[in-house]
Amino acid sequence: MTALFVQEIFMKVPIRIAVTGAAGQISYSLLFRIANGDMLGKDQPVILQLLDITPAQQTLRGVAMELEDCVFPMLHQVIITDDPKIAFRNAEIALLVGARPRSKGMERYDLIKVNAETFAEQGKILNTYAAPHVKILVVGNPANTNALILLHNAPNLDPRNISSMMRLDHNRAIGLVARKLSQPVTSIRKMIVWGNHSSTQYPDLSHAEMDGRSILEFLPDRNWVENEFVPTVQSRGTVVIEARGLSSAASAANAIVGHMRDWIFGSPPDDWVTMSVLSDGSYDIPAGVLYGFPVTCQNGNYRIIQNLPISETGHRNMMASYLELLKEKEQVKHLLQQ
Ligand code: NAI
Repeated sequence: MTALFVQEIFMKVPIRIAVTGAAGQISYSLLFRIANGDMLGKDQPVILQLLDITPAQQTLRGVAMELEDCVFPMLHQVIITDDPKIAFRNAEIALLVGARPRSKGMERYDLIKVNAETFAEQGKILNTYAAPHVKILVVGNPANTNALILLHNAPNLDPRNISSMMRLDHNRAIGLVARKLSQPVTSIRKMIVWGNHSSTQYPDLSHAEMDGRSILEFLPDRNWVENEFVPTVQSRGTVVIEARGLSSAASAANAIVGHMRDWIFGSPPDDWVTMSVLSDGSYDIPAGVLYGFPVTCQNGNYRIIQNLPISETGHRNMMASYLELLKEKEQVKHLLQQ
């Protein structure tokens, strides 16, 4: 038996990963990270099934060529298409990055309207064509509400396999505190960003720890926490756009990799991560919206951390973000079938 033959016998089966918006700027960072094994490991072969709209196919062909030219050992195949049925067929992971961006003068509610139909349609197609256990992460904005629409249009899929992304907000919050305290990012644990991926989100330091002690012991200045930390995290995306002329892309791709890796392989011990998942009544947030909660993950399942004490201010902030999600839900109610 040759060494090559032995390797082929024991090679893991490739996992099909669908990525939408694959010709866009987040994907330009994301696809290379996935193909390099950063998300599923250096020994896990992957097949990338890349979707973008018809006018973006030429760009997508260029991205596929670059992926091929990297000769990633674990990249078994790249499929490019403008047909969601082809992109989602047998996918075990679906990263829904593609969405129409907000154009000048467009309000958040206009954005919801233009993207809502897309997520309803993609939900239906995932429902029929994807692997029944497909794990879905919605990134395209408004991410929480798009994920809710998708969930309602994919009745055969487990709602616990549908999430939307708050990990970038979570990472931004950790980074900001670490810089403030001149400490390594790895020393900060138990961060939470509650709510919607929007300016109403509530980055909450009250349970965070540094080296096992409450972080607030190291941050006695309440004014900094309330009037610097919270608004800086909330507005970080806008500030990046102002500086770069483009929205966060590499950091968003990094957050996608972290979100999926922790969901599939487990969150770090003695810590939690923020994931936006279907609310179940925890922390008085009524069931039925996708909301950022602190979760631990094990064996591919998440569990919302329970019984954290919440201050009156915290509760008010959490409800404000919920009410925004409720408004968004009302706006798309014609697409919520179940
Ligand atoms: P981009 O504009 O560079 O790329 C978006 C891509 O999606 C384009 O190639 C476009 O053709 C494609 N697209 C549009 N409609 C599509 C459809 N129906 N099916 C498939 N593809 C479609 O945008 P970028 O920077 O890559 O961002 C993507 C999305 O991610 C945006 O909605 C952005 O607001 C959101 N975002 C979310 C974050 C989060 O934390 N949840 C963080 C950063 C960005």
